[in-house]
Amino acid sequence: MCGIVGYVGDRQACPILLKGLHRLEYRGYDSAGVAMVNAGGQLNVYKCKGKVSALEEYLDGKDASGSIGIAHTRWATHGIPDNVNAHPHYSQSGKIALIHNGIIENYRVLKDALEMNGYKFRSETDSEVLVNLIECIRDNSGCSLAEAVRMALGKVIGAYAIAVIEEGNTDEIIAARQSSPMVIGLGKGEFFISSDAASIIDYTNDFVYVNDGEVAIVNRHEPLKIVNLENKETQIKVTKLDLSISQLEKGGYPHFMLKEIFEQPETLMDCIRGRIDPVSCDVTLSGVKLNRDRFLKARRIIFVACGTSWHASLIGEHLIEDLCRIPCEVEYASEFRYRNPVINPDDVVIAVSQSGETADTLAAIRIARKAGAFVYGICNVVGSSIARETDSGSYIHVGPEIGVASTKAFTGQVTVMAMLALVLGKEKGTLDEGRYHELAKGILELPERIRDVLSNNSLIENLARTFTYAHNFMYLGRGYNYPVALEGALKLKEISYIHAEGLPAAEMKHGPIALIDIELPIVVLATSEHIHEKIITNIEEIKARGGRIISVITRGDSQIKALSDWSIEVPPMAAELMPVVASIPLQLLAYHVAVNKGRNVDQPRNLAKSVTVE
Ligand code: G6P
Repeated sequence: MCGIVGYVGDRQACPILLKGLHRLEYRGYDSAGVAMVNAGGQLNVYKCKGKVSALEEYLDGKDASGSIGIAHTRWATHGIPDNVNAHPHYSQSGKIALIHNGIIENYRVLKDALEMNGYKFRSETDSEVLVNLIECIRDNSGCSLAEAVRMALGKVIGAYAIAVIEEGNTDEIIAARQSSPMVIGLGKGEFFISSDAASIIDYTNDFVYVNDGEVAIVNRHEPLKIVNLENKETQIKVTKLDLSISQLEKGGYPHFMLKEIFEQPETLMDCIRGRIDPVSCDVTLSGVKLNRDRFLKARRIIFVACGTSWHASLIGEHLIEDLCRIPCEVEYASEFRYRNPVINPDDVVIAVSQSGETADTLAAIRIARKAGAFVYGICNVVGSSIARETDSGSYIHVGPEIGVASTKAFTGQVTVMAMLALVLGKEKGTLDEGRYHELAKGILELPERIRDVLSNNSLIENLARTFTYAHNFMYLGRGYNYPVALEGALKLKEISYIHAEGLPAAEMKHGPIALIDIELPIVVLATSEHIHEKIITNIEEIKARGGRIISVITRGDSQIKALSDWSIEVPPMAAELMPVVASIPLQLLAYHVAVNKGRNVDQPRNLAKSVTVE
């Protein structure tokens, strides 16, 4: 993963770089560093283990001047997080500095060759190999830095977004990308480079997305120039982005995660706006409308995704099979890409990804497209790689999600999938008019229903106190609520580090029931009306073994309430849409338990929000 930033222009680079790094910390936060060339042409590199705040302290009293610089926040792949392995890496002579997000797969071979040429390495990283390869080419051929970067990348196998600067050059950054995100912000006589446009939105709305295999020559005295690895100049396409800075700040909440949980009524409004007519309740998704025939001839839909997006896809599978009668499969993108899957040209592959940059999901859609399938994206980040590489798609429009644990993106993804199922069900004639309008109305009501659930926050906060020291949790759900159980367990694991398992409620008796004792809290998603009796049986089975039950019930369900140790009530909602509502108390429960345990909620250990490595 990792986040990279660069700046060249008239202003002092360091404050811009540090601000950018703070915004990119969701991508990794093991260590951080900056490199600037000062007015005298001297290259200064500062880096240290820990978060960006540690780097800020470390910079105190150092010469961090210069109007050109690059910076990095790291999520370790090669080498432990420490001061030496932190980026920027500099070449043997100390004249070239490089930041890198990605993995150089053939770094061993390249390193051996460089070592034979007398190069010595300070770190264990693949990135230091690349900066020395650039220096070696430059020294041997006397070419420009841009040329040396281009030639070095021709020898590299792997993924990268890099930015390179050199001693004595206060004008130019060389940047390049292959499979890791990179965007260049355009200012007047200044340029901003970043892994994510949101980190530099304070300075510009004009962005150029660098494509795979491209090298950008970012010189403050010249127009932006981009060449491919064969040195052929490519055409520059400027994209305008309309993001507001307030979306990137905590807005009075102690954590981004809490802010993002609480803004779900608004983010779902944004997701639905313009797609469901509030009067006629007709649903339109332009990406489907434009590709109607492609969807209608689909004999199968395959979802590919990772993490929370995979859980949302499981709900998509239920919705589409239920309402459209199209067979669906849900694949972990990381498995799909390596297991020689059967893909037919009349399959529709739906890639679901908040960031739109997850490396495995990106690789999966490339395989699907190669096999001739129609690939549809459900992404949040506008202009992201997956959004650009799919044939068509629908954005979820929930705004930047900064907390590493995904919350509003999950509810946005499920809402888009519900709209997709309605559109397809209507087109295919598998959904009667009455049900179609009832569900469309239900989607329009989701923001209000979520507001209602959020009013339970203090109750859930109290409940969380009881369980702060639990060692394990179990989450049970059936039907549409089974993926909600998986997602609830994942939220708790991610941010509290408590082991939690999500299970289909009836599967419990095939093994996990052995885990039940008075120590084990069991969260039961008990809202489904049509299998109400079955859920009661599952609860009785747990109670008979001493398990402590926290149920999520439909308001007024006195029967399950009486059987449970604690209950969280949610308003009535169609089963198809219940996952959006029922997931909210689980987000809050995970949040409060993690806060009680003193965890770093927005930046849990070892995780990163955008996984751009395999
Ligand atoms: C990481 C994040 C998860 C996310 C997953 C997929 O593991 O920590 O929160 O669900 O990646 O990310 P995507 O951006 O593709 O939805």
